[in-house]
Amino acid sequence: MAYLCKLSDIADPGAKGIDPEGAPEQPGVIVVRHGGAVYGYVNACPHQGTPLETFPDRFLDRDGRHLICTTHGARFRITDGSCVAGPCKGQSLAPVALTVEDGWVRRES
Ligand code: FES
Repeated sequence: MAYLCKLSDIADPGAKGIDPEGAPEQPGVIVVRHGGAVYGYVNACPHQGTPLETFPDRFLDRDGRHLICTTHGARFRITDGSCVAGPCKGQSLAPVALTVEDGWVRRES
């Protein structure tokens, strides 16, 4: 179990990308806050496997309602990672189990 970041580092709504420690070839994790809840996803678009963001921590659309892949514009529901529009519609981001404890976001696996 790894500590990823402080919960207070992320606005609500907001998101933060966490790169893997010591394994730069592995995809990172996206931590998303929305509606008081916290969600985690592997930072790899199901369309082509690329990271979603172009600029650091820019994962959400303007309204803060969807995660967006900047490569081809796929949109993903924050609550379950499913693609609702774009070239990978019907596919999903891979979930990452997270817990929040004492103000820290921790990865379960
Ligand atoms: S790589 Fe994400 S939409 Fe194409």
